[in-house]
Amino acid sequence: MDKIRIIGGAQLKGSIVIGGAKNAALALMPACLLTDETLNLANLPHLADITTMAHLLAQHGVEMVLNGQAPNGGHTGRVLELNAKTITNTTAPYDLVRKMRASVLVLGPLLARCGEAKVSLPGGCAIGTRPVDLHLKALEQMGAQIEVEGGYIVATVPGKRLKGAHIVFPQVTVGGTENILMAAALADGETIVANAAREPEVCDLAHCLVAMGAKIEGIGTGTLRIQGVERLHGADYSVLPDRIETGTYAVAAAITRGTVELVGARRDLMESVEKVLVECGAKISDTDRGVLVDADGAHLVGVDIMTEPYPGFPTDMQAQLMALLATADGASMVTETIFENRFMHVPELARMGARVNVHGASAIIRGVPRLSGAPVMATDLRASSSLVLAALAAEGETIINRVYHLDRGYERLEAKLAACGANIERIAGDAAAE
Ligand code: EPZ
Repeated sequence: MDKIRIIGGAQLKGSIVIGGAKNAALALMPACLLTDETLNLANLPHLADITTMAHLLAQHGVEMVLNGQAPNGGHTGRVLELNAKTITNTTAPYDLVRKMRASVLVLGPLLARCGEAKVSLPGGCAIGTRPVDLHLKALEQMGAQIEVEGGYIVATVPGKRLKGAHIVFPQVTVGGTENILMAAALADGETIVANAAREPEVCDLAHCLVAMGAKIEGIGTGTLRIQGVERLHGADYSVLPDRIETGTYAVAAAITRGTVELVGARRDLMESVEKVLVECGAKISDTDRGVLVDADGAHLVGVDIMTEPYPGFPTDMQAQLMALLATADGASMVTETIFENRFMHVPELARMGARVNVHGASAIIRGVPRLSGAPVMATDLRASSSLVLAALAAEGETIINRVYHLDRGYERLEAKLAACGANIERIAGDAAAE
């Protein structure tokens, strides 16, 4: 398996193009199952998870064509045509779902369009148990009959058409809100979703569904009202920029005390992250092409953060911020409220000299003047990116193992960082060496 080698210490200077949002794309792609017409998605990132979703949709019978020119070899700038004229198979198999939990997002649209679906139950993962009980309860409220058999969610809709319902999520769930949005778009009658997720990726899906003919009110608020329609049609839609990729490179600029322009980034999507970075000592401003993060000569200080549903501080930026705080002056406290096991990066950061103590859902970080390079590995995507960030600032060489985690969520990460002066390279390896 590939590794990434970083010699830390270089101050980043330059610009980085931000790609389409992975987590928006993973919800937008299954929306194609709701119509027999073509859904054209532009600005799809080129990532392993997007390929996994494409494989899953292909085995449901979706025909896909990738068009257009991609600058720098990625999918960014290309348009993916998805056509689900005929759904040939309503089963999402274990082999694909175990690779990527977002596969469960085919459940809502398959049930809405075909009245049946069999989707492997995702297991636990590195960051928590992550059940899908809230998705299932909500679909049951809409008339689905659901059993779990042989590790699969087996769902059928008597009379084939889901019906509108008043759903109150007891806790905010991004995937649950997305599944119900898609299911409700074709249901009979009105669905109200209270305590709905307001994440920009959920809004992106809702806007795309509206472009496909869905009737949705309250987008971006905690209450969504969906009037079901008989059919949806095709649409052209462009995926919004990735706010987590944006935040990750903003931290890269800050941790190296550098200056990086994030081209195509949307500042309005990263307000909570901006607030923390500014409190820490970085400067953030608009440019003609995106957002500038400037930490040249900055004296960075510790801050306290708590992860929360949007518009709060995103759990998907917690590990990256912790790497930054490990190098900031003074103490910081990081509290994780979304996932119960999202501190897997802590022991690896400690191997690089970070001073972090975890007490339950909180971690106390005491900044050190310099981290030091070490061989490290991580168990999930954002933990891996936090190690890359720590390595950029560390003295000496860091080897990051299990690069496949990074490839799930960051397109051409090493090329983007190298173009700003980072000393970073990918080393092709073999599985036996892992
Ligand atoms: C999405 O996961 C993202 N994934 C995650 O991104 C992100 O961390 C998370 O939202 C929170 O923002 C995608 O969009 C593909 P949830 P999702 O349902 O939808 C609990 C990344 O690094 N819960 O909002 O699975 C759950 O266990 C990733 O890109 C239930 O208990 O998250 C968690 O504690 C990782 N029952 C909390 O709710 C349910 O039925 C929030 O989960 C559903 C969720």
